[in-house]
Amino acid sequence: MREADASPDAPGTAGQRPGFDTSLPNIARVYDYLLGGKDNFTADRAAGDMVIAAYPGIVRGVKANRAFLGRAVRYLAGEAGVRQFLDVGPGLPTAGNTHEAAQSVAPASRVVYVDNDPVVLSHARALLRSSPQGTAAFVEADVRDIGKIVAGAGQMLDFSEPVAIVMLAVLHFLPDDAVYDTVRALMAEVAPGSFVAISHIAKDIEAESIAEIIRNSREGPQSAELYPRTRDEVTRLFAGLELVEPGVVTLQDWRPDSDLEARNQAAAWAGVARKPLSRWASPARPDYGSGISCMNISDMA
Ligand SMILES: C[S@@+](CC[C@H](N)C(=O)[O-])C[C@H]1O[C@@H](n2cnc3c(N)ncnc32)[C@H](O)[C@@H]1O
Repeated sequence: MREADASPDAPGTAGQRPGFDTSLPNIARVYDYLLGGKDNFTADRAAGDMVIAAYPGIVRGVKANRAFLGRAVRYLAGEAGVRQFLDVGPGLPTAGNTHEAAQSVAPASRVVYVDNDPVVLSHARALLRSSPQGTAAFVEADVRDIGKIVAGAGQMLDFSEPVAIVMLAVLHFLPDDAVYDTVRALMAEVAPGSFVAISHIAKDIEAESIAEIIRNSREGPQSAELYPRTRDEVTRLFAGLELVEPGVVTLQDWRPDSDLEARNQAAAWAGVARKPLSRWASPARPDYGSGISCMNISDMA
């Protein structure tokens, strides 16, 4: 990562931290901008505006995604009884993060966040607080680095007990030759009875607008290349798992809490699935080694 330009153009906490290149857009900060947050810079806002110009519906889409996060995590902590969460690609802290949703149902829930962006870690340190009974911690890792994730998160989570892996709006940053193997490898690490929740930009809804966003992401100084997928392709991410009703549906159709949520249309697919008790052999886990940092957020402040 290049040295920061120390640009003071950002309101909020982002402008106070050196060490980040603010001249290029950053996935987490662009997403923050689309959500109406304040932790973003000029380059992030320009990239966000290009996305909005191509597809104005993105603004309701990101809100629908956050609403899905809340519903899915509350389902997992409530009806499904999960007490351990691994949120991969959480983005910048905003209202209703995974540990808040989980701990609102089960205060002792333990949540480990994993992101490859040090900007996210820095904001997590400043802004995230766990319930006193539970834990919120952070590992800096790429979603493809399964060994680092398990070694880090394993300091806070018991992988012999069910874990809910939350991967919302992150897998569409991985190409086909990585995305399916990554999900399969992560699910191989968790105990039977574990869950995965996924949301993912669609290729087969609002197809022209989404194609325009992709063209922009390949040409401009965008934060990352995007790989939208069809409903069938997203469904394949859940191969070997038991999809929870209603299966893979648009974000707003996954157990909406209100008519308003159900009307908030998004060009994204979402689903939650459980690792069956049978069929999967327990993983013969390699020794991933030590020395990976998993920082308890209350210790980072
Ligand atoms: C669009 S934000 C999604 C935030 C949150 N999950 C949500 O749905 O509201 C995507 C996040 O994924 C992270 N990310 C992107 N590619 C990643 C990778 N290869 N490994 C780990 N994190 C990644 C970004 O840094 C960012 O924080």
